[in-house]
Amino acid sequence: MFDRLFRKKDISTMLEEASNTQGGLRRSLTVGHLVALGIGAIVGAGIFVITGQAAATYAGPALTISFLISAAGCILSAVCYAEFAAMIPVSGSVYSYSYATIGEFLAWFIGWDLILEYLFACSSVAVAWSGYMQNLLLGWGIELPHHLTLSTLDHTVDGWVLTGSIINFPAVFIVAVISAFLLGGIRQSAWINNIIVVIKVSVILLFIGFGLSHVDTGNWTPYIPENTGTYGSYGWSGILRGAAVVFFAFLGFDALSTAAQETRNPQKDMPRGILLSLIICAVLYVAVTAVLTGIVHYTELKTDAPIALAIDRAGTELAWLGPLIKLGAIAGLSSVILVMMLGQTRIYYAIAKDRLLPEMFAKIHPKRKVPHNATIFAGIVTGVIAGTLPLNVLSELVSIGTLLAFTIVCLSVVVLRKTQPALNRPFKAPLVPFLPLMGAAFCILQMASLPWNTWLRLIGWTVCGLIIYFAYSIRHSNKKN
Ligand code: ALA
Repeated sequence: MFDRLFRKKDISTMLEEASNTQGGLRRSLTVGHLVALGIGAIVGAGIFVITGQAAATYAGPALTISFLISAAGCILSAVCYAEFAAMIPVSGSVYSYSYATIGEFLAWFIGWDLILEYLFACSSVAVAWSGYMQNLLLGWGIELPHHLTLSTLDHTVDGWVLTGSIINFPAVFIVAVISAFLLGGIRQSAWINNIIVVIKVSVILLFIGFGLSHVDTGNWTPYIPENTGTYGSYGWSGILRGAAVVFFAFLGFDALSTAAQETRNPQKDMPRGILLSLIICAVLYVAVTAVLTGIVHYTELKTDAPIALAIDRAGTELAWLGPLIKLGAIAGLSSVILVMMLGQTRIYYAIAKDRLLPEMFAKIHPKRKVPHNATIFAGIVTGVIAGTLPLNVLSELVSIGTLLAFTIVCLSVVVLRKTQPALNRPFKAPLVPFLPLMGAAFCILQMASLPWNTWLRLIGWTVCGLIIYFAYSIRHSNKKN
């Protein structure tokens, strides 16, 4: 029994399986597609919604420093992801890496954790999409019936309560539309993603370019507002708390590695794709935050649509940008859902291929070359969760799941360098073990700062995963001893 938990999948067999394109996924993505997919997955609610609140509550104008700290932490993990994605370019991301390095049980554990990350990230961003869409529709005089606008349940200080709404219809709608696109095939999905990325990056560049001349440098003084006496409320502790909060804004680069098996030249292009998209986003975020806090004083930024507020404050000269910003945000949020959904379906596919989940999820559509059952299943589950649960409950689970995945990737790099030093590594993370250990420490520290409730939910999710593993997966797994 103990042996079974630690059985490993042979890396050469994994590579063989992945290179068998007959009846498998199609290798059609280039580095350009990957960077676009990366930006598509990364730039979303983090910059369009969370920035303002994080500046107002934690860091003031120094939120730019928070973004840099958070980016540095993500880059440490990204470099480790890049080493794995180039060495084991298969669709399961960190699930597959753990299966090759640490063994089946941990692989299942982490795969289950990745499902949590992508499922809840998709659902949270779908709820944010619903908010922006309803706001845009209201501007056009269209108001949805109340019972279709909110999640069915809310979690307040009194516990779970019914909101009176049947379902958050726009959130379910966007999940259904995106699932339909994904069923159309990876090339079509990548093409739609490229268009969306052009729209959202253009909107952000327009904001930076035109907003710059409206910056009042007086708003940047003091750059690091004095701490109020409470940990996390401005000052350096505020910058650190801000970094943990805006961590959400960088999520998504890891989803890129789930597309490794559909990349033409993964050994070269995966590391480039992951690192380039992360660096581009970090630069955009710092620039947007600088302009934002330069136009509006940070104390006034506690809003769900900070960029739109800054446009309003810039006066009539920039009024034309207002509707574009909303459209850009809606487009941006859509592509985050698209790539996160893609990641979710590919994780189901990879796990089911090893028979730790029912094999039907590993079936590839003969024409579309997509795991259609996995995609339909992901669409239904995400739709139900996005339609019924509130944003706060959804989003808090995302960070802890992701940080756990990042920690395991960083540690796995060190383990594999020791246990399999001869493996061909087309991309090598520098300064091993120092850099991966720093990355892991960074993630663990952030996990430790999360509330106990979030830990409890993670434990609950893990227990469900353990039940499935011992009741089903361990009996069906591919590798028979
Ligand atoms: N990084 C993604 C966003 O900000 C999750 O929406």
